[in-house]
Amino acid sequence: MHLTLRQLTLFESVARHLSYTRAAEELHLSQPAVSMQVRQLEDAAGLPLFEKMGKRIHLTEAGQEMFNYARRIGQELQELDDVMASLKGVQRGHLRLSVATTANSFATRILAAFSHRYEGTTYSLDVTNRKTLLDQLANNETDIVIMGKPPEDADLVVQPFMENPLVVIAHPDHPLAAHVGPIPLKALRSETFVVREPDSGTRIAMERFFGERGIQLKTGIETTSNSAIKHAVEAGLGLGIVSIHTLDLELEAGALVVLDVEGFPILRHWHLVYCQGKRLPPIAKAFQEFLTGEEGRYLLRHAKTPR
Ligand code: PGA
Repeated sequence: MHLTLRQLTLFESVARHLSYTRAAEELHLSQPAVSMQVRQLEDAAGLPLFEKMGKRIHLTEAGQEMFNYARRIGQELQELDDVMASLKGVQRGHLRLSVATTANSFATRILAAFSHRYEGTTYSLDVTNRKTLLDQLANNETDIVIMGKPPEDADLVVQPFMENPLVVIAHPDHPLAAHVGPIPLKALRSETFVVREPDSGTRIAMERFFGERGIQLKTGIETTSNSAIKHAVEAGLGLGIVSIHTLDLELEAGALVVLDVEGFPILRHWHLVYCQGKRLPPIAKAFQEFLTGEEGRYLLRHAKTPR
């Protein structure tokens, strides 16, 4: 079969998204260029790889087989890249770091501090939700992930390195902001909450906390962004539950307050995570040592985060 790596890469992207348009966007190509390469791959295979039902495309049986092989070949190529990077050493490496949305601000600061030490290295920082982080780990699409607690049944190396307290935030004029002493949990039953999307670590932790205490919260706006939660709470649209690491100037400026609620903060931890058996490139190893070592701890303690 005469096929090229390029055709396989393009096909893998179309098959993963089940969309020519999204694959073209991901690969910065035009849609006709992607379609043409996939057609050439179908010619080489002698079988159709996609079928169209209504407006959607689906993988045929041959397409599913091709997809499995394309993924495996992609992973082998990534491993080859990692091995070559190890041979070049830290100074010429590329670090692929992926972090949970909530870890964005401190992770960017840590990465900036780390990057000053190694000239000639390059970095990519992907800020995304928990589900995508787990997919990236499973598909070897990243070197190191910073996230809340990953599932225990996955084959991962997991190193906790910092607390991640979740707090309840309110507009300073909210009646609960004037409450003297801890606010009983049941007082939150009548409040509306602006919440993160269901796949986020914050949302999962918050639902577990209230679920275990038999409390059903009223949810209003749902958003994938911590900033949107803060803006909505500032606009008086309800209360929010966010990691303390997402709060910075809003508290100093008096735009938001943290409520003293019974049982809060919900205590979680940040973890550095990578796949068991992954050969970490030297630059990724250096980053792991930096983040979990003395220097990283010092920087994290002194990052501009209220305690
Ligand atoms: P997230 O944060 O809510 O941005 O997914 C990660 C986590 O706390 O697990």
